[in-house]
Amino acid sequence: MTSSTDALQNFLIDGLRNAHAMESQAVSLTSMQVDRLKHYPELEARIREHLEETKAQRDRLETLLGEFNVSASGLKDFALKTTGSMAALVHGFMEDEVLKNSMASFAFENFEIAAYTSLIAAAERFEKANLVDVCGTKVLE
Ligand SMILES: [Fe+2]
Repeated sequence: MTSSTDALQNFLIDGLRNAHAMESQAVSLTSMQVDRLKHYPELEARIREHLEETKAQRDRLETLLGEFNVSASGLKDFALKTTGSMAALVHGFMEDEVLKNSMASFAFENFEIAAYTSLIAAAERFEKANLVDVCGTKVLE
């Protein structure tokens, strides 16, 4: 492998680890939010659906990391899971909790799209078609 190929591969691995931590954070955040939505059944159903999509994406990312013979970063996962839980906890004390969580989720989803868009561009250069598919699927979700 050339040094530029190594650099691209390292970038991809880092991006996959970051995405895995991001999805772990989303699982943590969404799990806390969903149990507090009993008065909003349609929203609760959609959030539960997205929670399952998020868990599936986290699994797909683990598979991709395995193809590079590396695992997810436990430290990154822990740090982001903790901040996700804290955000949900703080909003839980507010009267407009559902609105605040919806706005935070909207911002988070846009952050995910930006992260996956950059990963797709790198994966295309690395000719990693399955990585492009996994990231593209998540952007559509
Ligand atoms: Fe998401």
